Amino acid sequence: MLTLYTTTDGSKTLLNTALNETYHSRNGSIAESLYVFLQAGLHDWLSENPNFQDTIRILEIGFGTGLNALLTLQSALQKNLSIYYQTLEIYPLTYEQIKPLGYVEQVDSHLETYFEAMHQAEWDKPVPIADNFVLEKRKIALQAYQSDAIFDIVYFDAFAPNVQPELWEIEQIRRTTNAMRKGAFWVTYSAKGQLRRDLKTLGLQVEKLPGALGKREMTRARKM
Ligand SMILES: C[S@@+](CC[C@H](N)C(=O)[O-])C[C@H]1O[C@@H](n2cnc3c(N)ncnc32)[C@H](O)[C@@H]1O
Repeated sequence: MLTLYTTTDGSKTLLNTALNETYHSRNGSIAESLYVFLQAGLHDWLSENPNFQDTIRILEIGFGTGLNALLTLQSALQKNLSIYYQTLEIYPLTYEQIKPLGYVEQVDSHLETYFEAMHQAEWDKPVPIADNFVLEKRKIALQAYQSDAIFDIVYFDAFAPNVQPELWEIEQIRRTTNAMRKGAFWVTYSAKGQLRRDLKTLGLQVEKLPGALGKREMTRARKM
């Protein structure tokens, strides 16, 4: 069962009661997404690639509430970026489940139509959400995923390794790193030692960054 959960900073997330796992940090949902995926992912990647003029390709594991996608769309509109955003999800939520989270009101209420379009978008086909933002939601388990594209940034946002360990096994991580171009970033909120060792085994250069909202560390890796 899913219930609404109010995080320490007052923002909301969903709690999967069977797993006792929230979709975002219990200390702040929007703040965590902004820190881990937007700042350490998209924005730092843009700083390293200031002359990139092409479409930026992002792969997300775990579409969930669509919060990371919404914040990425906001950034694309503000910075005039062109983005192709592919995201995997096997347990889609309905817009009715997501609306009470109040994300669009807190992020920017002008984005409501876009956010709704993201949730209504057909699965397994690229759908233009805004002029420069294409969303492709793939209803497929990571364990069955084979990429048909090469990505610049991977947002690895699966449930935590202690809750869904099978998604953090090297074979599954490899499905995402195989789909990265040279110089691409791979980011996650987790800082597990085994994950870092596996990313190194897969040929990535791994960094520990300070974690979001009081969490000690997070992980970022670069394809060499
Ligand atoms: C931490 S939540 C993602 C939060 C999301 N990025 C957001 O912005 O709201 C993890 C998501 O992974 C999805 N998931 C679970 N098992 C999966 C699998 N095998 N393959 C792909 N996604 C999976 C869950 O349904 C859940 O929506």
